[in-house]
Amino acid sequence: MSTSNSGSPSFLSRSGTPLLRDFVHDIMKHFKHEKESEAHQIFRERAGHKPKGIVPDTVNPDEETVPGIEHPGSTGVIYCSDRAMANGFSYHNASEWANLGQGAPEVGPIPNAPDRPESVSLPVGSLEYAPTTGVRALRESVANLYNQMYRQGKASQYTYENVCIVPGGRSGLSRVAAVVSDVYCSYQIPDYTAYDQVLSAFKRLVPVPTACHKYRLDIEQTKRDIQTQGLSVIIASNPRNPTGQVIAGKDLKELVSLSRESTTLILDEFYSWYIYHDHDKDVGKSVSSAEYIEDVNADSVVIIDGLTKNWRLPGWRVCWVIGPKNLITALSQSGSFLDGGANHPLQLAAIPILEPARVAAEKLALQRHFKMKRDHVLKRLREMHIDVDIPPQATFYIWLNLEKLPAPINNGLTFFEELLKEKTIVIPGIFFDINPAHRRNLFNSPCHHFVRLSFGPPLEELDRGLNAIEKVVKIARKEGTKRFGHSYKKSLDSASDHQI
Ligand SMILES: Cc1ncc(COP(=O)(O)O)c(C=O)c1O
Repeated sequence: MSTSNSGSPSFLSRSGTPLLRDFVHDIMKHFKHEKESEAHQIFRERAGHKPKGIVPDTVNPDEETVPGIEHPGSTGVIYCSDRAMANGFSYHNASEWANLGQGAPEVGPIPNAPDRPESVSLPVGSLEYAPTTGVRALRESVANLYNQMYRQGKASQYTYENVCIVPGGRSGLSRVAAVVSDVYCSYQIPDYTAYDQVLSAFKRLVPVPTACHKYRLDIEQTKRDIQTQGLSVIIASNPRNPTGQVIAGKDLKELVSLSRESTTLILDEFYSWYIYHDHDKDVGKSVSSAEYIEDVNADSVVIIDGLTKNWRLPGWRVCWVIGPKNLITALSQSGSFLDGGANHPLQLAAIPILEPARVAAEKLALQRHFKMKRDHVLKRLREMHIDVDIPPQATFYIWLNLEKLPAPINNGLTFFEELLKEKTIVIPGIFFDINPAHRRNLFNSPCHHFVRLSFGPPLEELDRGLNAIEKVVKIARKEGTKRFGHSYKKSLDSASDHQI
């Protein structure tokens, strides 16, 4: 199951079937049914996590008790936070834990980076609502920055009319999804967890899954799908969460060219600065589809990015969507009923930190620091004889295939539960198996054998988490795995709203 016919690592065959059969067989060797796996039972007990249709005898008819309300299913982040809390994690003792699950970069100072912002002013005007498309001066700053970074010398330049400020990346995704009409929208597995709910909540678009090839969007397959499936919209993170792969250069140019043939590309570029170059001369270069757009108002490319990852300011909730100006007017309309716009004072505070010279310094520091952390984690995993099939070239995630480990720690949910006992958090791979409206059975997930490790946190915390992984794997290899797969703590009654 780990290698395709060409010998390249793959967790899903292009057509899906033969490898999937092996894969299911492989799981069945260890558990006949998910009912036999305690980690999976805990997952199923949570509201919104019941399977639909496929295993009808396990559906709990009492789950939905509020008239007219249906749980969308907790996101991976909420589920993992709840399970960590059941195992004793809290905001007060978070420093005793290693959080290799969090999708957030370290927010403190890093070597050679500009100073972190420390205060925000509150002029009286900022107490008013901001426009739903954002403060004009910030929209201008975003347009200027993209022109400076990616569009120098090109005739078609972005203006403020191509930019909509939104209160966070997920809000940007929701605003965009809310204006997608009754069309086929394709996504690839695995991708960012929130697409699962975004593609379920907005019921006009019809989500169409495809598989990544070598952990990346397959451009040739996408071209065929556009023809044969009549795709109108494609959504993808690039660089990709959780696999750490990036489409750049001529491949990205080719992908962007599809937007000139009646297909809208929604490219989530939240990790556009987290690129790990082989040559020192390239350090500081980032990747965006903005570089390959010909006409900013005619090419239907929608870029989503913001302060959350690149500026390492997830708490600010200031992000943006960039696209043709006729898209921005639609986003103004969806924003006026979905979220009402981003925080006004923080939009003003964002203007100086978008200054191109400051951005250039931040990118240099960030790429050096995160590359050091990536290399450190990969080296430690190698020393533990845990192979990383395809090391990340971008983001701060490692998509770790566990299938060579002894059962049952060779599946993501059980590995996750065992690490919680060691005060370490990782994210089980199934949460990245975008499964809108839970149409597929979890146990057949191609992401079952995976976890995502984040090297977002500071080095010392990464080492604590790696020590825990080393301990669990050592015990499993030496003493067998009888002590694994059971005795998990029950979740607390109150659902958590913490984001770990
Ligand atoms: C690919 C991707 N897009 C968007 C976001 C969301 O960003 P925000 O926290 O600003 O909503 C994330 C966060 O993890 C992400 O990984």
